[in-house]
Amino acid sequence: MAAVLESVRALFAETFTIDAENAGDVVARERLLDRAMGEGRFGKSSEKLRFGRLPAEGLALVARDPEHRVIGTVRLWHIAAGVGGDGEAVPALLLGPLAVCPENAGRGIGGALIRAALREARDRGHGAVFLVGDPGYYQRFGFFAENAGHFVMPAPFERHRFLALELREGWLEGGAGMLVANGTRLSSLGRQDRMAM
Ligand SMILES: CC(C)(COP(=O)(O)OP(=O)(O)OC[C@H]1O[C@@H](n2cnc3c(N)ncnc32)[C@H](O)[C@@H]1OP(=O)(O)O)[C@@H](O)C(=O)NCCC(=O)NCCS
Repeated sequence: MAAVLESVRALFAETFTIDAENAGDVVARERLLDRAMGEGRFGKSSEKLRFGRLPAEGLALVARDPEHRVIGTVRLWHIAAGVGGDGEAVPALLLGPLAVCPENAGRGIGGALIRAALREARDRGHGAVFLVGDPGYYQRFGFFAENAGHFVMPAPFERHRFLALELREGWLEGGAGMLVANGTRLSSLGRQDRMAM
């Protein structure tokens, strides 16, 4: 993780940095998501896979401006994707929400967050990432509807916006079925730790 973050820092030192999210970022992150995505954000199908869960270890990232303020956020979550060819659930990740402060749009921050998160996920041995989002944005990172074609979300979703990327070749091959939440439950944490999420 340190090497990845350092290289991203060096590249964008003058403008923004990509960093691991910490407990002090939670309020700023939630405000940013409210601004970028509006009230409807909790009604999204992906929320069913996130609600009451912790993000995957090391996969909650923020972008910071030179004053260290949070100007972008992305998190990835553990899911189990249907059943694989071996009859077992396929472990995978769900990406989202991704958001960048509107004043900082178009500076490559969203792309830097996704690339850093995908590198980190690959380094940690994860096999595939799903998301629901605009194909016009996510295809450039390798997310395609074809990869998610045999899977379904646990709530109504638009098929053409349901995308997946294999981090390990063939990870989703032979797999099919519904995505279910698989992250650590927030309720398993103590009160102090829950408030820092
Ligand atoms: C989507 C979002 C994260 C992009 O962040 P960003 O930092 O502006 O993105 P980048 O600078 O890396 O990329 C900008 C490019 O993406 C394109 N883009 C941005 N949103 C897009 C979309 N929804 N569909 C297609 N292309 C999109 C821009 O036109 C620009 O294209 P260009 O490189 O050809 O000029 C940001 O606009 C945002 O927070 N939107 C509101 C929340 C949201 O929609 N999140 C995604 C949930 S699906």
